[in-house]
Amino acid sequence: MSLPAFTLNNGVEIPVLGLGVFQSSPEETTAAVAEALRVGYRHVDTAAAYGNEREVGQAIAASGLPRDEVFIETKVWPSDYGYDETQHAFDKAAAKLGVEQIDLLILHQAAVSMFDRTIDAYRALETLLRDGKVRAIGVSNFTPAALTRLLDVASVVPAVNQVELHPYHAQKDVQQADSDLGILTQAWSPIGGITFYPGFGDERRSVLQDPAIAEIAAAHGKSPAQTMLRWGIQQGRSVIPKSTNPERIAENFDVFDFELAAEELGRIDALDTGVRSGPDPDRVFTEQMLFPIPEA
Ligand SMILES: NC(=O)c1ccc[n+]([C@@H]2O[C@H](COP(=O)([O-])OP(=O)(O)OC[C@H]3O[C@@H](n4cnc5c(N)ncnc54)[C@H](OP(=O)(O)O)[C@@H]3O)[C@@H](O)[C@H]2O)c1
Repeated sequence: MSLPAFTLNNGVEIPVLGLGVFQSSPEETTAAVAEALRVGYRHVDTAAAYGNEREVGQAIAASGLPRDEVFIETKVWPSDYGYDETQHAFDKAAAKLGVEQIDLLILHQAAVSMFDRTIDAYRALETLLRDGKVRAIGVSNFTPAALTRLLDVASVVPAVNQVELHPYHAQKDVQQADSDLGILTQAWSPIGGITFYPGFGDERRSVLQDPAIAEIAAAHGKSPAQTMLRWGIQQGRSVIPKSTNPERIAENFDVFDFELAAEELGRIDALDTGVRSGPDPDRVFTEQMLFPIPEA
């Protein structure tokens, strides 16, 4: 099966579904990426800050797939923001990944308290794009206000904005701003990982346990995770579920043989609480987050 794709605002194609590797240890990452490629995934989303770019690259190389058949996305961490620093961040990422060119390179956060450096980092992405070192550039965790500030000075509209997005936090305002600007919204935690994995507070409610989603899933003989991925893809969002478990890697990819009805999409839309489970992009950035990203 050839994987359906979205066309980015510069004509580059991105598979609608990819594998996320946040919190995949380096040891687990190689096997997870290898298994994902084996079952048909052709897109991996990593980040300098995840500490597993090397293992992502090794698994892709070992798969024997031609380089242009796998879409590699990674992120620059704020400690590498600044024009020269971000150019060097590309060199580090490409060397760890073992590639000459990165398909999509994005800024991990807006880093609002040092927005000038964020802008300089984005200018470096624009240069990398012009030089053909990356095929597309983008941002992550950008609010509509941060997008406006960026676009006041940027010459290239980001291709992608990767944000927390699952049925309990659909960020309609961000989706609208992205679509008005021609930016593809990419959902992180597309099956709501941030609503149940450890470390983000006990008051959260797992969207994976939601009764309405369970009911819709059962009607299609699918799982809640598959139903949420289908909701995202049918509404035009890129989804990048993370798993290191072979059964769940396969399950999350098995979403191309059913379709949710408009009424079912609407029922899932209605679950939005307007409350995020992850960090607030306007507050998340602190000096403690400026940990160094190792050289390749
Ligand atoms: N830009 C950012 O700031 C940002 C932030 C967070 C995430 N991300 C990106 O988005 C990707 C996905 O988001 P995420 O990792 O936060 O959350 P997610 O993909 O929504 O959920 C991942 C969690 O769900 C479990 N899981 C996976 N498939 C499942 C299934 N079919 N049924 C039940 N549980 C399942 C995983 O455990 P197992 O591994 O044990 O299956 C893991 O605990 C990340 O890996 C990363 O690439 C970006």
